[in-house]
Amino acid sequence: MNVLTHLSDIFGAAFSAQGLDPSLGEVVVSARPDLGQFQCNGALPAAKQAGRNPREIAQAIVYAVEVRPEFAALSLAGPGFINIALTDDALTSYASAMRNNRLGIDPVGDPKRVLVDYGGPNVAKDMHVGHLRATIIGDSLARIGKFVGHDVLGDAHFGDWGTQMGQVIIGIQERIPDLPYFDQAITDGYPDVSPVSMADLQEIYPDISGRANTDPAIAEAARLATVELQQGRPGYLALWKHLVNVSQASQRADFHDLGVEFDLWYGEATVHELIDPLIERLKSTGVATQSKGALVIDVAEPDDKMDIPPLLLLKGDGAYLYTTTDVATLQMRMDEMQRQELLYVVDARQALHFEQVFRAGRKAGIVPDDVVLEHIKFGTMNGPDGKPFQTRKGGVVKLRDLIDMVTDAGLERLAESKFTDYSEEERVEIARLVGLAALKFGELSNHRQSDYLFDLERFTSLIGKTGPYLQYAVVRTQSILREAREAGWEPANLIEPTVDTERRLMLELLRTPDVITRAWSTRAPNHIAEFAYELAQQFNRFYEECHILSEPDEARKASWLGLVDLTGRTLTLLLDLLGIDVPEHM
Ligand code: ARG
Repeated sequence: MNVLTHLSDIFGAAFSAQGLDPSLGEVVVSARPDLGQFQCNGALPAAKQAGRNPREIAQAIVYAVEVRPEFAALSLAGPGFINIALTDDALTSYASAMRNNRLGIDPVGDPKRVLVDYGGPNVAKDMHVGHLRATIIGDSLARIGKFVGHDVLGDAHFGDWGTQMGQVIIGIQERIPDLPYFDQAITDGYPDVSPVSMADLQEIYPDISGRANTDPAIAEAARLATVELQQGRPGYLALWKHLVNVSQASQRADFHDLGVEFDLWYGEATVHELIDPLIERLKSTGVATQSKGALVIDVAEPDDKMDIPPLLLLKGDGAYLYTTTDVATLQMRMDEMQRQELLYVVDARQALHFEQVFRAGRKAGIVPDDVVLEHIKFGTMNGPDGKPFQTRKGGVVKLRDLIDMVTDAGLERLAESKFTDYSEEERVEIARLVGLAALKFGELSNHRQSDYLFDLERFTSLIGKTGPYLQYAVVRTQSILREAREAGWEPANLIEPTVDTERRLMLELLRTPDVITRAWSTRAPNHIAEFAYELAQQFNRFYEECHILSEPDEARKASWLGLVDLTGRTLTLLLDLLGIDVPEHM
């Protein structure tokens, strides 16, 4: 049961009985815990709307609700705030209800069909820090959406149909010119095994794309190869399939080690068949027009504050662009996948691209007005120098290297730990989980739109607002429960709190459903990260004050164990929503 919804309903009914809007009855967790546990601030806007005195309205509301048994105290403050304290009995029964499945949190009544587009790896290219942010944030949002109760699909939207494909093709041709893929006389029966490995591609791609930037002849050859590939030249297509497979295998392994799995690995090329008919339709309806030899969609609107240039749909040579595939992908996500919300978790620097694509989607009648299109932007991850994170030599940091780096840092942390009773294999696995927790929590504890500093030392610390600190809090709950079980004590029904740290822990736990809902509605997992930290801190205070295992009163001990269990499960859920797994020991 969601206590805030429940209290808001009670207050809403009281506002309604006064002839006022029931939504004014919203109850929130108190910003001033010294004055009350919860508060309702609706009397002020109500007074404005009704032209009445706010204190008078607040007083009337208090009279109306105070008969209810769940309230221990209701008081007025300032111009018309209502402070609310629950009785210990009510508090305990709300917290007890959370011991049910899913922590007593019901799935939403109106589930939406959502698609989260995140990760965004590209064929033949190594993934880097930008992909890391997209992956961690997107994975967390997809998890939150699913938990809230929506039908969520996560799609990697593989970059496999752009100019880089032509570049890689001619890069390979330069090195191994006799491959059958380049011989126009051969049209089938190509080899099953890829002529290049991921390691080869890691060399070939940066080299050729660097030269394409400076050498017009290479750029021209790559452009032509891209067009020919997109038009279906058999040898290029066969080679392209190898490139896709080789890249995907390596990237899937990286994602797997990050603890991230996608529901779908659709690529830009998946919509290939849709593109030509779409373009024909857009031309014939006049949505797309010719401009300087290219085909564009004018997406500017009269009240734009800044200049929104037309979306480039087709280049003069007929080659498809990043925008072409994104517009066609909109159509697939509508027609075939029937999605109602599309969330694109992509670097803020692509803001204009998405603004154009979304507008084009609406203008072309592909995306109805009631379908949500959102670009979930994020900023940069900076290095210790405050500039975008780079290798010592100033190069792009590869995702794979980053994963290795945090695992090493996890191993170092474990070397400091008291617990040593595990095999080498287990130790490496725990280090990986600790390293990933450090990385993911370091990311998700910031609002996604702010830039943040990658500080491995701080991220891996067992003290402070870090992933490993939270993992450790869960491990502690588990070890308390294990020790209790060995002594024959099991968690049981909660009874009324007697000390304040216990009461506060219950109150803190009751915030869970609201925090999760807010993280989803604002697309901001940092609410969950922040709350998990507060909950863990409150748990530690409780644990210090209440000596659970030596408590002589059996019912109290069992209730405390119930609270430990509930806290452990809540923290585990919150961490899971951030994509963080907890080891059994650490
Ligand atoms: N592959 C792109 C990149 O590396 C990200 C793809 C984002 N998704 C999309 N539908 N455009 O920048």
